[in-house]
Amino acid sequence: MRQYYDFLVIGTGIAGLSFALKVAEKGTVCVLSKTDIAETNTRYAQGGIASVMYQPDDFEKHIKDTMIAGDEVNDPEVVRKIITEAPAYIDQLVNWGVEFDKNAEGKFDLHKEGGHSEHRILHAKDKTGTEIQDKMVSAVKAHPNITVLEKHFAVDIITQHHLGEKVTRKRKDIECYGAYVLNIKNNKVFTLLSRVTLLATGGIGEIYQTTTNPSIATGDGIAMASRAKALIEGMEFVQFHPTALYNLKERPSFLITEALRGFGAELKDRNGRRFMQKYDERGSLAPRDIVARAIDNEMKSRGYDYVWLDVSHKPAEQIISHFPNIYKKCKSLGFDITKEKIPVVPAAHYLCGGIKVDLNGCSSINRLYAAGECSSTGLHGANRLASNSLLEGIVYGNYAAQHALEVFKSYDVKSNIPEWDDEGTSLPEEMVLITQTTRELEQIMSNYVGIVRSNLRLKRALDRLEIIYRETENLYDRSIVSKEICELRNAINVGYLVIKFAQARKESRGLHYTLDYPDKNEM
Ligand code: FAD
Ligand code: SIN
Repeated sequence: MRQYYDFLVIGTGIAGLSFALKVAEKGTVCVLSKTDIAETNTRYAQGGIASVMYQPDDFEKHIKDTMIAGDEVNDPEVVRKIITEAPAYIDQLVNWGVEFDKNAEGKFDLHKEGGHSEHRILHAKDKTGTEIQDKMVSAVKAHPNITVLEKHFAVDIITQHHLGEKVTRKRKDIECYGAYVLNIKNNKVFTLLSRVTLLATGGIGEIYQTTTNPSIATGDGIAMASRAKALIEGMEFVQFHPTALYNLKERPSFLITEALRGFGAELKDRNGRRFMQKYDERGSLAPRDIVARAIDNEMKSRGYDYVWLDVSHKPAEQIISHFPNIYKKCKSLGFDITKEKIPVVPAAHYLCGGIKVDLNGCSSINRLYAAGECSSTGLHGANRLASNSLLEGIVYGNYAAQHALEVFKSYDVKSNIPEWDDEGTSLPEEMVLITQTTRELEQIMSNYVGIVRSNLRLKRALDRLEIIYRETENLYDRSIVSKEICELRNAINVGYLVIKFAQARKESRGLHYTLDYPDKNEM
């Protein structure tokens, strides 16, 4: 079976849906979600979206904060363009119906987060992502040109490789013709052909034991693009959020937004003493890489399982009105954040690198775009500034759409693509092989490729990973394709990329900290 569309969009978060809404004005669009349309990283965003709105803030300050957080690895042209255009995209979100909180004067109520020199985070209480996701989903569902396929899993993007040609990274003429897609409801793979394809598949948090990311975050888009020989960059820059709620029973970990620290919450040790000042003069509001490393150090050197975050000195009614979701969640676990401290630990949260794209969102493969967390635009550098990722998702969803609209008619929809070949495969005999290997991957990544790295740890990680890589490729080749085996294969692929990129960077910069090269190289 095959289906044809002008535009194929893989992913239903802020990046995928903003692209879809734009291109749908001129052509047919198919949007894929491997679960349901609303289950995305976007949905879980708490803090909000960063944009300069009012004096005394200005674009230069936001640009400077982004470059400092990114340890100057950022692309200055990209940073300037996104930040100066941000207010126009806030208008676009508002036009789609998104309601950001306002103050008594009718102006947007702005929060502050780590690394920001001003209040500039627009938010909807502490559930900003849900507000954005819901309003964009409504707009997409109402659009007659958009077909949404839920529980449809993109297995691989289609290139000349599937026509029997040799495809290497050196080739400049690789083209993407669509994707092989597994319909999870009937377990059949079909061929989905398009003039243009967008990867907007989100992050990779699931490769770690502790993560704030929902279970969709297995790095599928990056793994597919890498197998198709697209350029990938910045994979060593995995961001750990400093303050996930410590609750061993819960996966994903519940996030305690950085905006709570912007509101006055302080990190404390088990004796109730503030410790961040020892590490950075900005204290609890230093950029994330610094705060996460400091907490990691406190925990390891003192043998703690967690540290405390304390907001109880602030007025109770203000805490409840700004952070009702966090208040309710902690209350459900038996403690009251207006009176008691919150136990927190760092958790894998965001990938700064990914599929390399240019200013039009074009990857190194023709007819293939990438946007959102799976892409690497140059905005974040070595460490993302808080609340800059929703912004990047909507902006690059639009850049990619503008470019795709100019060129899509010049591409034909290929007719000579072979159907998916599952000859010689059978149902996987033991699911436990997949679940056990997934646990092994999480352990390898958390033990050896976490917040602090070393040559020895990375080598050990690679040696262990190569074993599960071979076993999994073997299982994949023998098995009828399933979401579970594909996700495991993809997660191992991206784990491999993180390790290889970490090994290649012989310095400590931004989120990549290694005991063997503790200093920064001159750039
Ligand atoms: P996502 O929103 O993650 O969407 C990915 C989509 O891809 C999903 O629809 C999924 O089904 C689909 N998909 C993946 N693989 C496949 C496949 N193989 N086949 C078919 N479909 C597939 N950022 C901020 O700027 N501000 C915040 O306040 C903030 N808070 C956050 C809080 C939490 C708890 C988390 C986890 C992240 C937060 N972030 C925040 C980061 C931000 O939410 C994400 O980076 C951003 O939402 C990513 O959007 P996206 O469109 O790239 O992908
Ligand atoms: C948070 O609310 O702390 C998360 C913000 C982000 O990841 O940008």
